[in-house]
Amino acid sequence: MTTLRKYYRYFSVTSTQSVLEGFFLEMPLRKLAQDPYKLLRVMGLREGHVLLDVGCGTGFLAFPAASIVGDKGLVYAVDISDKYLWKLRQRAAKLCVKNILPVRARAEELDGVPDRSADRVVFMLSLHHIEDKGRALSQVRRKMKQDSLLMVYEPIASRMLGHGTEPSEIIPLLRQKGFEPYLFEKGRLFWAAIFTPL
Ligand SMILES: C[S@@+](CC[C@H](N)C(=O)[O-])C[C@H]1O[C@@H](n2cnc3c(N)ncnc32)[C@H](O)[C@@H]1O
Repeated sequence: MTTLRKYYRYFSVTSTQSVLEGFFLEMPLRKLAQDPYKLLRVMGLREGHVLLDVGCGTGFLAFPAASIVGDKGLVYAVDISDKYLWKLRQRAAKLCVKNILPVRARAEELDGVPDRSADRVVFMLSLHHIEDKGRALSQVRRKMKQDSLLMVYEPIASRMLGHGTEPSEIIPLLRQKGFEPYLFEKGRLFWAAIFTPL
């Protein structure tokens, strides 16, 4: 009952976040299909790195990332949702995680994240939610160090009832914003790619 009440409080949210999205993001089984440690390993995240997690939600990637980057590293957890950031802060306090910095910002502005600070950047299921993708990608580009990498992980719009993006549209936009694809994978429902800044 207490758990149900907690979920109700958390998911009785604003019009922008549906109950379904909340459940999906928190589903324990999700880690099997989208193993966060595997994704972070593919990105080459390591101890001491700074990760910029854009549209971090409740921290699906931010917490595993924090354990990899350690005390000398940092995770900027950026989201526009107060609800999700509240949940992330609660979890960080409970787990005594000190190397996640929650930032309430739009991806299109990224206020609070210093320029040329990030070794790795990730948009995990968030790019399709962002209104001005071009502007967000330009901002992200400014935040990245020279030898950094960007990962985009997205639902395939045509296979998810329009909820997502098509790589054929997003990859040219990324190229236009100064990114070169380095790895690309298209599954049945999701696509993922890693980009280097030019
Ligand atoms: C489907 S959730 C993914 C959350 C998290 N990355 C995950 O995989 O669990 C999309 C997230 O993007 C955030 N978001 C949407 N538009 C945004 C924007 N313009 N700037 C920053 N975050 C945004 C939402 O608040 C939400 O937390």
